[in-house]
Amino acid sequence: MKSFNGRVAAITGAASGMGRALALALAREGCHLALADNNRQGLEQTVALIKTATLSPLTITTQVLDVSERQAMQDWAARCVAEHGQVNLIFNNAGVALSSTVEGVDYADLEWIIGINFWGVVHGTKAFLPHLKASGDGHVVNTSSVFGLFAQPGMSGYNASKFAVRGFTESLRQELDLQRCGVSATCVHPGGIRTDICRSSRIDANMTGFLIHSEQQARADFEKLFITDADHAAKVILQGVRNNKRRVLIGRDAYCLDLLARCLPAAYQALVVFTSKRMAAKPPKPAFETHDKPHH
Ligand SMILES: NC(=O)c1ccc[n+]([C@@H]2O[C@H](COP(=O)([O-])OP(=O)(O)OC[C@H]3O[C@@H](n4cnc5c(N)ncnc54)[C@H](O)[C@@H]3O)[C@@H](O)[C@H]2O)c1
Repeated sequence: MKSFNGRVAAITGAASGMGRALALALAREGCHLALADNNRQGLEQTVALIKTATLSPLTITTQVLDVSERQAMQDWAARCVAEHGQVNLIFNNAGVALSSTVEGVDYADLEWIIGINFWGVVHGTKAFLPHLKASGDGHVVNTSSVFGLFAQPGMSGYNASKFAVRGFTESLRQELDLQRCGVSATCVHPGGIRTDICRSSRIDANMTGFLIHSEQQARADFEKLFITDADHAAKVILQGVRNNKRRVLIGRDAYCLDLLARCLPAAYQALVVFTSKRMAAKPPKPAFETHDKPHH
């Protein structure tokens, strides 16, 4: 797909971060939008931002839903086609983060993250695929992470969900290539991007004293790793779709970690253990003010 002008894109997680940035970037290119999120207020803010940033008359529809609910995603896909006439792109972008040890993690938390990060992507792909095929020119864009290429301690749920998105999307892409059906697929692996994901993430108490000193400090340290802004990330993703890339990496951190995992496919883990130990041993920083409360 070389141009997004006049096309219709559906985006999950459009109330914030990269989903919002994608919506704005696509609107600037004249693309009609179907936006979904479980955050109604955030979705309304995205629509208001688009209206002030673009002049061209675009059709924008919104849907409050939970991507982990299969029927809601099926119904939304059908509604998108009814309201827009067709859909060309689905961005399965909605996602959450979870920090916990394997030993201490609650099954409920694991089900929560896999339900959103993996099943949400599967639901979006399967619900929209027939409509993308019917449009004659379609693209599935699934958001994994650099942690879909590289594992870390305390991130097993996130790692599992993002490695799964990668496997699912790479297999899908090969099927679509074989079918020559006018639809393609791209898997996106962002490094640290400045968004709200840290605020909405769950950090289990079992991490304190293991890899982190306190939840507050962990959130602050985590945010320091967000070196790329969301608008740039959206630009890189859309360029990847234009170039029909199989894999899109975002940020120099993503390139570095990908290289490390390729060069030392097993031994990189020993390096991670070594650096994690050193970081965990560092004394806590002075108290840090935050207004944000975790969901947990
Ligand atoms: N920010 C990063 O550093 C980073 C790095 C790698 C991958 N990612 C991935 O990028 C994607 C976008 O995240 P972001 O960084 O923009 O975060 P964000 O928190 O700013 O945006 C995520 C959006 O998903 C929505 N969402 C969460 N659960 C949902 C659900 N059950 N149903 C519908 N919507 C839901 C949230 O309300 C939010 O609007 C995620 O899949 C995330 O895992 C982010």
